[in-house]
Formats: sequence, C-alpha cells, structure tokens
Amino acid sequence: MERLVISGGKKLDGKVSLQGSKNSALPILSAAVTVNGISIIHNCPDLTDVTAALKILEHIGCKIKREGHTVIVDASCANRFDIPEKLMREMRSSIVFLGALLARFGAACVTSPGGCEIGLRPIDLHLSALRSMNTYINESGGLLQCETDGLCAANITLAFPSVGATENIMLASMGASGETVITNAAREPEIVDLAKFLKACGAEIYGAGQSVIRIKSQKKLRSAEHTIIPDRIVASTFMACAASAGGVAAIDGVCMEHLSPVVPVFETTGCEISVNNNELIIKAPERLLRVKSVRTMPYPGFPTDSQAIIMAMLAKSKGTSIISEKIFENRFRHVPELIKMGADIRVEDGRVAVIEGVKKLRGAHVSSSDLRGGCALAVAALGADGKTVVDEIHHIDRGCEALEKSLSALGAEIKRE
Ligand code: UD1
Repeated sequence: MERLVISGGKKLDGKVSLQGSKNSALPILSAAVTVNGISIIHNCPDLTDVTAALKILEHIGCKIKREGHTVIVDASCANRFDIPEKLMREMRSSIVFLGALLARFGAACVTSPGGCEIGLRPIDLHLSALRSMNTYINESGGLLQCETDGLCAANITLAFPSVGATENIMLASMGASGETVITNAAREPEIVDLAKFLKACGAEIYGAGQSVIRIKSQKKLRSAEHTIIPDRIVASTFMACAASAGGVAAIDGVCMEHLSPVVPVFETTGCEISVNNNELIIKAPERLLRVKSVRTMPYPGFPTDSQAIIMAMLAKSKGTSIISEKIFENRFRHVPELIKMGADIRVEDGRVAVIEGVKKLRGAHVSSSDLRGGCALAVAALGADGKTVVDEIHHIDRGCEALEKSLSALGAEIKRE
C-alpha cells in the first residue's frame, strides 16, 4: 500500500505545470464511442480513472493507443454495449458511457455505479432523461438494461443542473433524431469542453456553458482531434498548497476564467494572485485570514471539489470560517483527519463546517477518504509542523497526476513510499 510522507513547515518556492482536466477527459473518452472513427485526444492526464475509462473502451472493442498525454481511440471496431460490473465499479463516473452506448448501439447494459463515497450519488435524473428520449430501461439487481428502437429528441428540464446527467443527455443526443433541448443544464467548463469535442466531430450544439443547451441530431460523427482543458480543481489544490505552506508558487497552463469562482476566496485570505500568459503566481501572506462564508454551488459558484482543500488551508487561518456543502451529503469525511492534525473544526447538521483557525497544525498519521479529501490532507500537511503520513493515496491517484512530483517541483518535502 503506497503512502505520502510530507515534512511540513517549509515555505514553497517553485513552479509546476498543470495537468489536463479529469472531469473533462472522462466524458470525452466516452464520447469517442459515438464516433465511428478515430478520436485523438491531447492533454489527457495520466490517472487511474483515465486508465479505467480506457479499459472500458477496450472492452467495448475500441483500439487504444497512449502516447504520453495523447490518447488515440479508434472506435470504428466497437462491437459491444455491455460494461461488466468490475469495470463499472473502478470509476464512479463510468455512468457517462450509458448515453454514448445508446447513441452508438441503441442499447446499453451496465451496472449502477453504486457505492457511497461523498454522498448517495443517485442517477435518477440520467435515467428519466434517457427514458424521455425513448429508451426502455429495466433496472433489477443493480443491472441497468437499456434499449431503444430509435432515440428521439426531447425537451428535458433537469430538476438540478447535474453535470453527469447533462453529459449523458448530450451523448445520447448524438444518436437521436430532431433537436434536444436541455433546460437547467450544468454550466461547468467540462460541459463546454465536451461540446467542443463533439462539435469538432461534426455535432451541432448551441448554448453549452449556459443554462439551455440545444443539440441538433447528427447521424454520423467524423474523426476529430481535441485538447482537454486544464484541470481547474488541481489548480486550486496547488494554490491551497501555497496558501497553507506559505511562500510563492507558479502554476503554468491555467485558464483564469475557470478559476474565477475560487480566486476571490484566496484573495480574501490575503493571498496575492497575479497572472502572466496563463501562468498564475500565488504569494501567501505570513498568516492567512479567515473567510467568513464559503458555499459550494454549481458552476459558476464555488466548486464542491475545492471544498476540502479550502477547509484544510483555512484550518490555520486567523478567525472563524464557515463552509456550507450544498452539492453532496457526505463530503466532510476529511474533517476527523484534519482534527487529528490539530484543526478545530465542528460539523453541524452534516452540511456546515465551522472552522476555528488555529495557530499551528501538527504532523500526524492520516488516511484519505476520497480524492479531494486526500488532497486536503496534503494541503494541511504542508503547513503543519513535523511529519505527516497520508495513507490510502489510491484515491488521490484517481485525479491528481503524481502529486508528489508536482509538490516537489513547488519546493515541498514530499515522497511516495
Ligand atoms: C461531477 C464531477 C464531480 C463533481 C460534481 C459536482 C465528474 C466525473 N465528476 O460529478 O467531480 O463533484 O460533478 O460538480 O465530472 N444528483 C441527483 N440525481 C442524479 C444526478 C445527480 O440527485 O441523477 C445529485 C447528486 O447526488 C449530487 C448533485 O446532484 O448531490 C450533483 O451531482 P452531479 O452534478 O451529477 O455530479 P457528478 O456528475 O456525479
């Protein structure tokens, strides 16, 4: 079992290149199934979740080539529409293959992604949308058998702007006749990136990034080449590392527009942020100030994926900060681990965390409960006195490419054992 060993208390001074976005890469890899040809995807991060998506593509019959950060998917020979439970469970977001398989084959047989990591994560919005597009879905014993005698365009209003449901509808629409309209669609940059890829393949999509997305039927998609957007969540993680450890960090390859929901929070803590040609430089103050209130919201609100790392950095700030988690029910599992490091945090009603900033955190033996929660422990460890050991780092490897290498480049003392 691998773990990270971090010696805290050392100010950062270094530069790191930002990886491609996991949450963009995964739906775009499944979108490759809708193309009866070759998709060349650049800036694809090297993550265990990406490897899991590639295994699914291979199982379906696609040919895969991985050359550094470029993945080439030849889906012309795809010949099956089932995904075994083992592959579905390797990665929760495997559910976005559902819409892609339906578009390509008119059928899909998958298991529910299930499990409980950060909340219940139901897929009711995905299923009701696909049903309204003329898909018959039989759910029994965790198995989802989906069939259609022709996907139909539909007007779909989402009760919540779910990222995954929006992606599944966009993907299914690639095989539908007519114009599909999604109202209350997710507006995340990853939705815009998926639309950009599908458009490069010949799809007609309007309004991605806004609340109403219109997708015209496109019977045949052509081969295309696409570059994945930078990972805004990993960018915010590096920023939190600098804020927590102190010092200066340069992050190369950021998209500032995608970071607009998080930058004001860092500025409120007293961090100075400047940008030059897609390179962000963050300079931490001697002691961070508290942030009165942070609420996670759908984009362009503050991202739930950055909640844990912000909490870790605020643990050592001056004053009381309050974080409300509005997206997932169970996303404070890092709190007991931060408390082991000396943080003073109490959770009220499961959804609100009150962080009383302490002067010092101390190194401890802690364990990642999920991907971003694991990153939060690394953030806290960099600002803590002494040595921290972070276990269960397979969660971190799902979404952060070689975190120890990136943080070493920023000047941290960190190693993987
Ligand atoms: C995606 C991201 C994840 C991020 C999340 C919210 C990927 C691979 N993952 O997850 O990192 O934290 O967006 O920004 O892109 N919901 C329902 N019914 C549904 C679908 C969702 O009730 O059918 C609820 C969920 O339980 C959750 C909320 O809606 O409470 C948001 O979920 P959603 O936007 O769908 O997140 P994911 O696509 O799973």
